[in-house]
Amino acid sequence: MFVNRYLRLALLGLVGLVIVAVVAWWQVQGTRTMAPAARIGGPFQLTDHTGQTVTDAKFRGRQLLIYFGYTYCPDVCPTELAAMTQALDRLGPAADKIQPLFISIDPERDNPSHLADFVGLFHPRLVGLTGTAEQVAAVARAYRVYYAKAASKEGGTTGGKDYLMDHSSFIYWMDEEGGFIAVFSAGTAPDAIAERLKSRQPQ
Ligand code: NI
Repeated sequence: MFVNRYLRLALLGLVGLVIVAVVAWWQVQGTRTMAPAARIGGPFQLTDHTGQTVTDAKFRGRQLLIYFGYTYCPDVCPTELAAMTQALDRLGPAADKIQPLFISIDPERDNPSHLADFVGLFHPRLVGLTGTAEQVAAVARAYRVYYAKAASKEGGTTGGKDYLMDHSSFIYWMDEEGGFIAVFSAGTAPDAIAERLKSRQPQ
């Protein structure tokens, strides 16, 4: 019948609209839950190697190179911090706009005075940061950094100050607003890092 046919068309149209609405809602939900998982970086509050409390806001307006590690690290951390310094040296005067940071993932041993001795070995402008176990855990979480106490030389993981830390090893490159640009994996040549940094320096 004539009326029935129009009713059926209207119903089909309504069903179509509902499907479009559901798909749209599902996509919005999807992006909302995906976005935070993909974001690297975020606010932090830590203590620098001079004993001052600092937050991420202090470094706004400068690009950052951030390395997470610990001062007792026998190999990887010194190698990567040396690579970071060499990359900055190769960049020349443009490097003055880039702030290198070293964030300890071993706050139990890396107090500010200990960090002060350590950062001086690498770069005159390298800032060492440590904090409470909670503050360090929070910044590590924001940057997706893995770290854990490893077995001590005596074999146990409990007690004593003689232990190693397992940790992920990346140099994080952040922009002037604290946004993520890129990571350099361990072993990236200083020249390669310098080339990438150069590509994004204001002329
Ligand atoms: Ni290390």
